[in-house]
Amino acid sequence: MAQSLNILFLSSEVVPFAKTGGLADVSFALPQAIKELGHEIRVMMPKYGFISERKFGIHEIIRLREMDIPVGDKLQKGSAKASFIVGQKIKVQIYFLENDFYYNRDGLYVDSKTKTDYPDNDERFIFFCKGVIETLKKLGWRPDIIHCNDWQTALVPVYLKTIYKDDPFLSGIKTVLTIHNIGYQGVFPKESFLKSGLPDEIFSQISHNGNFNFLKAGILYADVITTVSPTYAKEIMTSDEYGAGLSATLKKRKKDVYGILNGVDYSVWSPENDKFIPVPYNIQTIESKYENKKALLKYFGLTYDENIPVVAQISRLAEQKGFDLIAEIIDEMMKLDIQYIVLGTGEPRYEEMLERVKKKYPKKVGVHIGFSEELAHLIEAGADIFLMPSRYEPCGLNQMYSLRYGTVPVVRKTGGLADTVEEFNPKTGRGTGFLFEKYSGTDLLKALKKALSVYKNKKAWIKLMKNGMMKDFSWNASAKKYVELYEKLLTPQKKTRTAKVK
Ligand code: ADP
Ligand code: GLC
Repeated sequence: MAQSLNILFLSSEVVPFAKTGGLADVSFALPQAIKELGHEIRVMMPKYGFISERKFGIHEIIRLREMDIPVGDKLQKGSAKASFIVGQKIKVQIYFLENDFYYNRDGLYVDSKTKTDYPDNDERFIFFCKGVIETLKKLGWRPDIIHCNDWQTALVPVYLKTIYKDDPFLSGIKTVLTIHNIGYQGVFPKESFLKSGLPDEIFSQISHNGNFNFLKAGILYADVITTVSPTYAKEIMTSDEYGAGLSATLKKRKKDVYGILNGVDYSVWSPENDKFIPVPYNIQTIESKYENKKALLKYFGLTYDENIPVVAQISRLAEQKGFDLIAEIIDEMMKLDIQYIVLGTGEPRYEEMLERVKKKYPKKVGVHIGFSEELAHLIEAGADIFLMPSRYEPCGLNQMYSLRYGTVPVVRKTGGLADTVEEFNPKTGRGTGFLFEKYSGTDLLKALKKALSVYKNKKAWIKLMKNGMMKDFSWNASAKKYVELYEKLLTPQKKTRTAKVK
């Protein structure tokens, strides 16, 4: 093996401490996979008030107590505490940055009462980005690579190349910024730039439409930028709609943009060893899946019928996820011989829409508004079809989980969904799911109907389920790609002489 690297991995959510979506799953699994390749990797996240010190064995580090971290003209106190992410085979060190004023709240980014972003999210993550750097200095641990994820951590590369650029301890650290979702950029009014302490002269460069834009700043300052699937990497660079206004910025960095597909932690997401489901199963014991289907329907008070497929969704209820299409076609969908189950939480307009659907079709629909890890596993195991009609999808994890559970995905052909689901061909018996291209209710309905016609043929359906269950999206392959990138960044650039072609 090449030399072992030191990596600091920054994320605003990590399973099992805090989760709103797939980033938390990635931040749990990827560091373990990188460590398994022989590298020293540590993770750091904010210590939200609901993270129990006792439950997770989080302890103080005397040296890292009450550090002074400037935010605007205030000096805030930050303490870093430590514990471990405990996987099946590997333990990864994790640091938590604590400040009660910023993090002792019941949400991560959104106030649960008003359902709006905390008004001081700019300060909360300026504090985090600076706090990370101060922690490293106090700790005396110098990573070779700092791997940032999303806008909440995107200012770290900017700080390293501006206010900390002459700090000998930090010199030579390379940065990677992974974009998990370009729809969330950390956009704040110009005044909040003052709180960052960054030099005035960079504002015009990193601002977007006159606003302070954390993600844009990170894209411009990180040494490389990655996103979570090859197709999404292309989409966000080539279309301004997918790039949410930042495609031109990304194009400037084109040479340094990579798409690396997320993986699945099969020790957590696999029906064989899933501690949340009543009857474990695998490809050989596929019939046991139906015991889980019974349990799922019972949970929602619906009747079991082996000829009626359960179509399910587990999702943040956000515009990204395609619930406008569901609203558009729900009455048509309900004419089909299906049962429909949704687990989700998010924007009130979608929560209300789903509650209305449940009221209108009580015998066919089950809706659980809320966040439940346990129910998410039961749905993966008990459903027949998994819907992801996303407007855009950087990677998407649930379709990959579904494949392993023999739950056939019906997805829009975009981003990571296009990279992980292959159209089933009943003639050849190849393929793993059903895709539609145009963001339209009619096309979604067509794809769903195609799935239902195959469902009627039990033999073809079992073949389709098995094709999916045999797919392997383990993290190991993706972790190797990240390590290759880190190594490339740390290799001194040789000056290559380009031969001129006449
Ligand atoms: P995103 O990160 O855009 O939300 P992903 O498909 O990458 O989408 O990941 C979503 C993750 O969050 C999955 O692990 C999924 O099971 C989980 N999830 C989403 N909503 C809920 C919910 N309401 N309850 C439990 N888990 C949820
Ligand atoms: C984001 C994306 C999702 C991706 C996840 C983890 O939240 O919306 O597609 O799978 O991050 O990378």
